[in-house]
Amino acid sequence: MTHKPIRKAVFPVAGLGTRFLPATKAIPKEMLPVVDRPLIQYAVDEAREAGIEQMIFVTGRGKSAIEDHFDIAYELERTMTDRGKDISVLEPTRLGPGNCAYVRQQEPMGLGHAIWCARDIVGDEPFAIFLPDEFMHGSPGCMAQMVAEYNRVGGNLLSVLEVPHEQVSSYGVIDPGLAQGKLTEVKGLVEKPKIEAAPSNLIISGRYILQPEVMRVLEHQGKGAGGEIQLTDAMAQMIGNQPFHAVTFDGARYDCGSKTGYIEANLAVALSRPDMADEVRAMAQRLVG
Ligand code: UTP
Repeated sequence: MTHKPIRKAVFPVAGLGTRFLPATKAIPKEMLPVVDRPLIQYAVDEAREAGIEQMIFVTGRGKSAIEDHFDIAYELERTMTDRGKDISVLEPTRLGPGNCAYVRQQEPMGLGHAIWCARDIVGDEPFAIFLPDEFMHGSPGCMAQMVAEYNRVGGNLLSVLEVPHEQVSSYGVIDPGLAQGKLTEVKGLVEKPKIEAAPSNLIISGRYILQPEVMRVLEHQGKGAGGEIQLTDAMAQMIGNQPFHAVTFDGARYDCGSKTGYIEANLAVALSRPDMADEVRAMAQRLVG
């Protein structure tokens, strides 16, 4: 059986990024660099690798740096070219004409609300969601791995990973059913549960493939954990009517919404790069030793 292809990705980038203040007062959290690429660029590259063509950004006030990042920088390119500098490093920042759309979430009312703001651009087809501050490092990328599974089973997919039990209250948690290889059936979902009430220690880690019906559920979704409209709550209502699976990502995940996770991501990427690994390893050893 063939499933409708995943052609569109939604990037919710309208949050306030309060955990990174004052750095994020004038710069969107999603523009913070891991080594030399902003978080949002990694997410877009991951989407392209998975065959996704159209990028939909849900932005808010103070986020125009993201639009500029994915536009042509005439003056910069002209000056660099005139000086004989290589501009190929800017290549990934170019999105094809008509391949990106921006929609505003006027108030940060929660992730579910941000996704709902993209409903008309998503239309009636399955789509992917990327939370850019969840940095997924691996090859093939997390979404490419998910699309491979989607092509087999269809329906809705979430990327998950295991965390220590005492951390579950910060995340969306799945109630797991039958597991087969990388795929686990999802029987239920709960956002930010109390430790003792958590159905597992498998958390949703920032990548989703969802059927368009989720938009209709979000339309009527009330506030949940933290007083925000939660995507997890809307998805939970769909379970039973639609197939839901979790995919365990074969790679590393860094929570770049937290300061220590962000530093870890920078170190991990630097240590994986041939152009700087030796220098950074020696530097890190000096600092800790
Ligand atoms: P987070 O809760 O991690 O981001 O949302 P935040 O609220 O910006 O950060 P803190 O907690 O204040 O530091 C995950 C993703 O969802 C987006 C964020 O921009 C981030 O990419 N988001 C969140 C929205 O687009 N709108 C919202 O109302 C909430």
